[in-house]
Amino acid sequence: MDPELRAVAEAAKGFMPPDEGLALYEAGLLADGPLLEIGTYCGKSAVYLGVAARERGTVLFTIDHHHGSEEMQAGWEHHDPSTVDPAGRIDSFPFFRETMGAAGLQDAVIAVVGDSVKIAEHWTTPLGLLFIDGAHSPEPAMADYEAWEPHVNGVLAIHDVFEDPTDGGQGPFLVYERAVADGFVPKTACGSLRVLVR
Ligand SMILES: C[S@@+](CC[C@H](N)C(=O)[O-])C[C@H]1O[C@@H](n2cnc3c(N)ncnc32)[C@H](O)[C@@H]1O
Repeated sequence: MDPELRAVAEAAKGFMPPDEGLALYEAGLLADGPLLEIGTYCGKSAVYLGVAARERGTVLFTIDHHHGSEEMQAGWEHHDPSTVDPAGRIDSFPFFRETMGAAGLQDAVIAVVGDSVKIAEHWTTPLGLLFIDGAHSPEPAMADYEAWEPHVNGVLAIHDVFEDPTDGGQGPFLVYERAVADGFVPKTACGSLRVLVR
């Protein structure tokens, strides 16, 4: 991946270590058709996937309501006070725009702002890759999988998959197990990132 774009991704606020980001980029290169990400936040992972999308001649749709997950709210582990707007609510969208501007990826990355499951109810485009990195509690993580899985023709990537509960929450791991049961075949693993294909 282009070193300058890697530097933009690494400088962005967010939750994607560089080695996992590169693994995500590699997964994106396998996609045959548009890519879709649940969980934009400030656009860190969207740089890795957006570059892959552009190299594949397609686009990345990236979904977020931009008001943060539970663990990002004030008083929780991943709260960042600099993302709180004057009304006192998290708004990660300006940071996303800044990241895309720095990466020059506005042509390849399309923001879809809203609730992921609600958007899925109206979605009809087949996807070459789905990346699940939205809400991490078991119920909403599974809801994302169930809403979007029917649209995937190819690659499924899941972030924050921790087999051992002492390493992290179990939502993404339960989704991973369900995907395997549904016929997705594990292809690569890097840190907590799992890439599966079907
Ligand atoms: C872990 S962060 C994503 C991190 C990002 N992929 C990165 O590389 O830094 C999860 C994001 O999912 C979003 N989110 C949580 N539940 C959502 C939902 N139901 N619909 C849309 N976005 C949601 C939150 O607002 C938050 O920005």
